[in-house]
Formats: sequence, C-alpha cells, structure tokens
Amino acid sequence: MEEIVLAYGRYKDLHHTASLSEKIRILHQVIRQDFSYIDRVAVALFDRNMNTLKTFVQSAKDLPLQFYECLMDNAPSLMEIKARKKSRLVNDMSVFENGTHEHTKKIAANGYQASYSVPLFDSRAFIGMLFFNSYQKNVFLEQDLAKLDLYAQLVNSLVVNKLQSTQMLLGTFRSCLSLVSYKDPETGNHLERMARYARLIARELAKQGNPGLSDEIIETLFMFAPLHDIGKIGIPDSILLKPGKLDEDEWQIMQTHSAKGREIIDAVAQHLGLKSFDHISLLQNISGSHHETIDGKGYPNRLKQDEIPIETQIVSVADIFDALTSHRSYKPAWSNEKAFEELKRLSGTKLNSDCVRTLIENEPAVKEIQKQFSDDPE
Ligand SMILES: [Fe+2]
Ligand SMILES: [Fe+2]
Repeated sequence: MEEIVLAYGRYKDLHHTASLSEKIRILHQVIRQDFSYIDRVAVALFDRNMNTLKTFVQSAKDLPLQFYECLMDNAPSLMEIKARKKSRLVNDMSVFENGTHEHTKKIAANGYQASYSVPLFDSRAFIGMLFFNSYQKNVFLEQDLAKLDLYAQLVNSLVVNKLQSTQMLLGTFRSCLSLVSYKDPETGNHLERMARYARLIARELAKQGNPGLSDEIIETLFMFAPLHDIGKIGIPDSILLKPGKLDEDEWQIMQTHSAKGREIIDAVAQHLGLKSFDHISLLQNISGSHHETIDGKGYPNRLKQDEIPIETQIVSVADIFDALTSHRSYKPAWSNEKAFEELKRLSGTKLNSDCVRTLIENEPAVKEIQKQFSDDPE
C-alpha cells in the first residue's frame, strides 16, 4: 500500500500543475531517476502552415535553443524521422560537427554529445519532435530505449492534451469571431498579420532577455492574439457597422467590447471546464486590456505602465500597426514609414516603447509578413 502511495506521490505534480513547461520539468526529474545521463528534454512544435519546426518547451540546465524556428526542408534528418515515423538515436553527435544548421551548432556548442529524437503524433498527424539529449557520448543503450519510448508516449499525450485544449478554446472562439468578422470592417488578413507581428515582437523581446516570455507563452500568445476583439460580438450592429463617426453614447458602448470580451472568455472557459487551463490568463488579458494605455488613460480599467501585462502591450502595438497599414473604409492604407512615425509618436505615452522599437527594428520580418498575408489579391 505504501508503495502505491509513494508511486503516486512521484507523479502527482504532473496533474496538479498547469503549464506544459512545468510538466516537462517534473517529468525530466522522474526520467533522470531511471536514466541519469539525460540532461535535456525538449519539445519542438510542427507548424503545418509554414512547414517549420519551432522551439516550444524544454527542461535543461542550460537553454541552448530558444525562440527558434527552422524550415523542415532545411533539416533533412528531421524530415526523414517525420516521413518514416521512426525515432532516431545518435550516440555520438560529433558526426554533425560539420553541420551548417544553427540548431545543430547550438546544441553541440552547449556540450551535448548524444541525442534520441522521437516524432510526436496526434492520431496520425505529425505534431512535433521530442529530443532527449545527453552531455555524454554513447550513453543511450539499446535496452533503455523501450522505457524511453514509454516516457516519450507520456510526453506525446501531454503535448496533445495541451494542443487539444487550446484548439477547443480557439475553435469555439473562432466560430464566434467568424460571426463578428462577418460584420466587422476589420477583415482581410488583419488577424493573421497582427498575430504574427505580436509573435515577432514577443520573440525579439524574449531574446533581449524579457523574463516573462518563454517559447510556450509566445506560441500561446500567437494563437490567442486574433481573439483580442472577441467582445465585439456583444456590440450592436448599429454601432459596429455605423459608416460615420460614433457619437459620445455610441462610443461609450463600443468601448465596452474589451470588458465584454473578458466576460465571454470567463464564461466559455467555465462551460468547457477549462477554468484552470494554462495560460487562460493570457487570453483574458489580451481581450480585456488591449485598449489600456501606459499613461493610464485607456479603458476599461485605466491601468498604467506595468499594470498592463506585457502580452497585452505587445498585442496593442501589433494591432495598431496593422490597423494603420491596412485599408479601412475611412482611410487608405498607410506606408510602413508613416505608421512607424505614428507608433513612435505614441511610444512611451500610449504604447510600450520597447515593443514599438522592436517592431521597427525588424522591418524586414514585418515586410515578409505583409507579403505573405497581403489583402491585395495580386
Ligand atoms: Fe478592440
Ligand atoms: Fe484588431
């Protein structure tokens, strides 16, 4: 009986914690009790639309690879693992010594010498890769692999679980949003672009050392950013679709969309049983606070400076930049230069200056997003 209690005690935190990063960290500790040579457990996510693999969660003393995305076409060995649906053992990574890929170099530069890579699937769909790495050569023994595969299956389930909960939330809200987009002039690829600007800013801020932004948070932010205006489903058409300027009363009603957004998210999350879903707070903050400004004159709560969560400040800059550079019934699309000037004018009073600076510094990536998600049918 005691043994059962002990065994349960060893794993119970996996269920009690919310974030996938924390679950992977706990699981890594458990794995090390069996295989002390495993120094890193990392999951990378597959992006089907872009055919890329993105860093997602990891547990290691060092963090050799973060905020990184690589084209699958540029990683033939990963392509092969994906195609053959088979794990790959490399007991001596010096075979990659002359490799040119940034990820191979970084892993090697941090002293990792062996790796076991396992493809992850949701039903039959490839969803990412799991990497077990060791600082030592030739440590993965044939007889260890069966048990490691079992751990890999557990990681696979945890990742699928996380993605499915996110998809369920997104699916529900996107259905709502499609009703709004149908009515809202903010159509075209606005949501696609603004979510990517948000991810771009977040990744760059993270690289500059912002401690609040992990890969897991950034990817979740990317998925949730398009839902910033979900509260507009609670605004009457007569206001939402009014061609001219809103009068004072109408403007007051329009402003309630952010508070309504948060209420809707709370209600849906409760109905779906996802009240404690990890990072639901990201969604609550994005929808509820994206019109707060750092001078404390925004709405609904007149939050100031750091009272506004960083993810929300990022989304505000991304959203405003795309609104400025998009065609609207009341204005033509502005050039990037003109929009950047406007962001600079708002920087430090209305918008977070680090977010503004980061977006402007990354104009080539901004242009790439604009090219990929243009509203122009040409
Ligand atoms: Fe809004
Ligand atoms: Fe927007």
